[in-house]
Amino acid sequence: MLQPKKASESYANMMEMVLPNDTNAIHNLRGGKILHWMDICSAISAGRHAEAVVVTVSVDQVSFENPIKMGDVVQIASKVTRAFSTSMEVKIEVWAENLPTKNKYKCNSAFYTFVALDSNGKPKNIAPILAETDEEKNDFELAQQRREMRLFLAGRIKISEAKELQRILHVKE
Ligand SMILES: CC(C)(COP(=O)(O)OP(=O)(O)OC[C@H]1O[C@@H](n2cnc3c(N)ncnc32)[C@H](O)[C@@H]1OP(=O)(O)O)[C@@H](O)C(=O)NCCC(=O)NCCS
Repeated sequence: MLQPKKASESYANMMEMVLPNDTNAIHNLRGGKILHWMDICSAISAGRHAEAVVVTVSVDQVSFENPIKMGDVVQIASKVTRAFSTSMEVKIEVWAENLPTKNKYKCNSAFYTFVALDSNGKPKNIAPILAETDEEKNDFELAQQRREMRLFLAGRIKISEAKELQRILHVKE
């Protein structure tokens, strides 16, 4: 097995300013644009952890909590929560800031899953995650439930294989 790597080593962040081309008809940042930026930031976290080319395989629990206004600065931060065999889950959080007023507000969060690929484009094993802080440990624990849920919804596993989901939903085999 590969040596565990600290979750914090996968931390990535980026900033963007919302310009007219990024907005919808009511001058707020378009959903597709923010998803694109989140994909880039989280791919950097995943690639950093895997030390490999990564591809997005799933996007989950995207919430749009507040609209982001034109001219505001968007800050995106991401970190790998847990690595499985060849895939890993990345948590992404998004804030925006209005520079004149200094008002900073939380806008989005999501979990993206990436798969690491080898030089032949085949899934490649990656190092486990070492969770250190309380938040990292909590994200690591809950990542198993989220993984089972997304694999179940994607039709890749049966409920009988989703042990953690069975436990929390009190499902009997
Ligand atoms: C990612 C990809 C290579 C996986 O291929 P595959 O034949 O399904 O490979 P496997 O069955 O071995 O699965 C590989 C991993 O992906 C995970 N996976 C596959 N589908 C998934 C899904 N819908 N949600 C979450 N994880 C998924 C598997 O659980 C496995 O993870 P593990 O090794 O940690 O257990 C393939 O699906 C692909 O190329 N998808 C397109 C990716 C892409 O183009 N993304 C957009 C641009 S970056």
